[in-house]
Amino acid sequence: MPHPTTRRRLLQGAGAITLIAVGGAVWRAHDREVFATPSGAPYDPWAMWQSPDYRDTSLALVAAGILASNPHNTQPWIFRVSETEIEVLADTSRDLGTFDPYLREMHIGLGCAIENMMLAAPANGFSAAVDLAPGSLIDIERGGMVRAATIRLSQGNGAVDPHYEAIPHRHTNRYAYDRERGFPEDLLRRFTSMPENGDAVVSLFTEGEAFDALGRAIMDATDEIVADPEMIEDSHRWFRDGPREMARERSGLELDTAGLSPALLAAAKFLPALPAEQSHGAWADQTRNTHVPTAALLGTISVHDRYDRPQALAAGRVWQRLHLEASAAGIAMHPLNQPVEMIDRERQLEKEPVAEARLAAITGNPAWQATFAFRAGYPTRDAMASARRSVEEVTEAG
Ligand SMILES: Cc1cc2nc3c(=O)[nH]c(=O)nc-3n(C[C@H](O)[C@H](O)[C@H](O)COP(=O)(O)O)c2cc1C
Repeated sequence: MPHPTTRRRLLQGAGAITLIAVGGAVWRAHDREVFATPSGAPYDPWAMWQSPDYRDTSLALVAAGILASNPHNTQPWIFRVSETEIEVLADTSRDLGTFDPYLREMHIGLGCAIENMMLAAPANGFSAAVDLAPGSLIDIERGGMVRAATIRLSQGNGAVDPHYEAIPHRHTNRYAYDRERGFPEDLLRRFTSMPENGDAVVSLFTEGEAFDALGRAIMDATDEIVADPEMIEDSHRWFRDGPREMARERSGLELDTAGLSPALLAAAKFLPALPAEQSHGAWADQTRNTHVPTAALLGTISVHDRYDRPQALAAGRVWQRLHLEASAAGIAMHPLNQPVEMIDRERQLEKEPVAEARLAAITGNPAWQATFAFRAGYPTRDAMASARRSVEEVTEAG
């Protein structure tokens, strides 16, 4: 039996350790902003997009462009700006490696930015025309800035498209959707009539064989990605570990937008970051248990050639427009691009094109190749804004 003094000391020691542990936990919870909504400079671009500093200048278009949807929030862009034109450059160093081996998704993201910029032009007194860089993604230059498009500006007084005002309200929503509520008929009709120019087609499924097959294709492709160590490592490079890293990078994916329940989110933020295999395993579970089964609508965007640069940009413009249209109507959306990511990966590894055949059987028209897949439905929770680099950080003088 320990001496009473020794026991008191021991108890004091234990008390001190508990205090340090609790203090450490409180400090860690504070440092990692476990219970806070992300805020600060990385989120300012959402509030500043119509800043008087940019109004009626080409920077106002950039401020709208950077809020666009883009793969893994890589923000693969630089804008070379003058008074009369904006060159949209693909920053090919901000890539996803084996997750996007042909920079196809990168170009879709650039197309999303271009759509926002074209919507912002009339609101800032410009008439804008876009010239998309030609060529194939199969042999695109790498490692630096590659021109993707040039937006030419002149004075104009055209009408402002209503999609413009939805720009800051569009966020990827990775929570469960309320499938019981179905999908609004009028929005379905509007989706069907987009795109208007024939560069891309949208296929929409709310039930039946094709709906089930697309859901299965998404889940199976996710499992295939999770079983590919290179793909998940390349994806994982863009996962940010806490607010400090996000404050530095202002890009990449964060837990707050991962669609986790409040309790799971707090636990995940508190604990050390999971390795790639586990975080992607959790993503596969979410895909199978939440994303696909709660979707009211599954859809694809197809083009004639998914490796043609202008067509990839055009697909991005369509996605951005669909997502803005849905945001304005209070409908949540979420890209689920795993089936097309697997098509790219099989091509890169020169494997039998199983993923290609799987998706072609669903979209059912050999003249069109799916390049984007998504889900939509009534939200059960609002999604949060993701981080962005500032206008100044991504702009250079032309
Ligand atoms: C080409 C492309 C592919 C994407 N693929 C996925 C995906 O498979 N899963 C997902 O959760 N989000 C996907 N996204 C959504 C992006 O991760 C999201 O747009 C980005 O993180 C910025 O967040 P925000 O849309 O909320 O602004 C994709 C976006 C684009 C443009």
